[in-house]
Amino acid sequence: MKDHIDNEMNLEFISKSSNESFARITIAAFAAQLDPTIEELADIKTAVSEAVTNCIIHAYENRIGIVKMSAKLKDNEVIIEISDHGKGIENIEMAKEPLYTTKPNLERSGMGFTIMESFMDSMEIESVVGLGTKVTMSKKIKKEDEIENDVEEMDFITKD
Ligand SMILES: Nc1ncnc2c1ncn2[C@@H]1O[C@H](COP(=O)(O)OP(=O)(O)OP(=O)(O)O)[C@@H](O)[C@H]1O
Ligand SMILES: [Mg+2]
Repeated sequence: MKDHIDNEMNLEFISKSSNESFARITIAAFAAQLDPTIEELADIKTAVSEAVTNCIIHAYENRIGIVKMSAKLKDNEVIIEISDHGKGIENIEMAKEPLYTTKPNLERSGMGFTIMESFMDSMEIESVVGLGTKVTMSKKIKKEDEIENDVEEMDFITKD
């Protein structure tokens, strides 16, 4: 059976830090179609901010390049790809480690990938040195009845 997609968008912008908020707002508007909670939407926006900031700061450093963001909606899941044609990552496993940063002097805490991983359901990095990097993330948006069940479970846990 053909893999169905309910909606899709593609966006390209230049690596200026003012476009970080542009990307956040855009993904929020697109993902809003799945009727997420405020919290789910905040998680998605934060993850996108981290990925876009990485393209601006690490991939292109002081030059201007193109950042691409694409997103798909499939059932109740949002799948987001953020890519650049910047310098690439030499050691992906190391880059994913919490607190690992190659720019400690720029007030970087090395938590970007850790945040993306914890706020989304999945996060994958593909990168080739000298060619660029692509980060793919996905998150399932809970349906209302699933949220209600969670609340009931919480009641059960907190009742004495
Ligand atoms: N798009 C990218 N292109 C090239 N290198 C990258 C890219 N994204 C991340 N990196 C490398 O991976 C490291 C870890 O990224 P991460 O986002 O976890 O931390 P950080 O950006 O250094 O700090 P923080 O995100 O907390 O400000 C970066 O320091 C950088 O060396
Ligand atoms: Mg970062």
